Amino acid sequence: NAAAAGAIGVIVSNNVDGALSGVTLVNPGVVPVGGVSKADGTALAGLAGQAVTLDLRFHFETRTARNVIAQTKTGRKDNVVMAGAHLDSVETGPGINDNGSGSAGLLETALQLGSKPKVNNAVRFAWWGAEELGLIGSTEYVRALTFEQQLDIALYLNFDMIGSPNAGYFVYDGDNSDNVGAGPGPFGSAQIEKAFVDYFTATGQPTEGTDFSGRSDYGEFIAQGIPAGGLFTGAEGIKTDAQAAKWGGTAGVAYDKCYHSKCDNLGNLDRVALGKNGDALAFVTATYAISTEDINGVPPR
Ligand code: PHE
Ligand code: ZN
Ligand code: ZN
Ligand code: ZN
Repeated sequence: NAAAAGAIGVIVSNNVDGALSGVTLVNPGVVPVGGVSKADGTALAGLAGQAVTLDLRFHFETRTARNVIAQTKTGRKDNVVMAGAHLDSVETGPGINDNGSGSAGLLETALQLGSKPKVNNAVRFAWWGAEELGLIGSTEYVRALTFEQQLDIALYLNFDMIGSPNAGYFVYDGDNSDNVGAGPGPFGSAQIEKAFVDYFTATGQPTEGTDFSGRSDYGEFIAQGIPAGGLFTGAEGIKTDAQAAKWGGTAGVAYDKCYHSKCDNLGNLDRVALGKNGDALAFVTATYAISTEDINGVPPR
């Protein structure tokens, strides 16, 4: 609530009420006047002034997180093709599909490209830190760029979960044709979606559009008007009968039943899906490294 917002205090554990977990109190141990609110914002009535039990095992700490950024020495530096994947995982699991899969796919593409590739446009790889804490690494990175530096980025490609064990073949819906996002992305995002879809279509792999509203590291790029796109094989969502018919796997089961949990280990990968998405990642990145003409042709941002 307002009294608790911004206060530096102690976090109440669920000793009082499960709904209190994560609430910060102004006066440690005493619920502030006016009471406290639950995580969903609704008031928890009748607790103002009451003493609560504190569990100090659950606490804030300050940590340093880093992004790892690497760029080819060759290619135009004012028309950079950027591709990224978050390197961190949640504390509750090892994070192999989320997001060892995207990180590994990106690393393999960088290795295959080599240090001095024959490209027209520079390729900048980003392994983001602190995505799971609120897209922090990528957001800080984009905001720290000057406007000129932002304009030097032709596009951004994102890879967060590309080997889900009950995989869907999702492409970020940059043109909002599937009406699953918050509206079309910046000019050029539609072309990026098409580049991925065209690649998959050529290989006989059907795809679907998926949410492009900012639930991963591309969020701050599109917020600043930089065209973006990417791939996703699904998290907690449930595979439909129609999807199982065209993609295989199991209908009525989550795309990744180990999403954010302990079992997101090396067994939690569909290696065929990882291979196909890794190939698409490499192909589209290389295509834009050669030319961004399809994006340049659309109205300027
Ligand atoms: N960003 C989410 C995570 O890391 C995964 C996700 C990606 C969900 C894209 C939806 C769309 O947990
Ligand atoms: Zn995650
Ligand atoms: Zn993720
Ligand atoms: Zn679309």
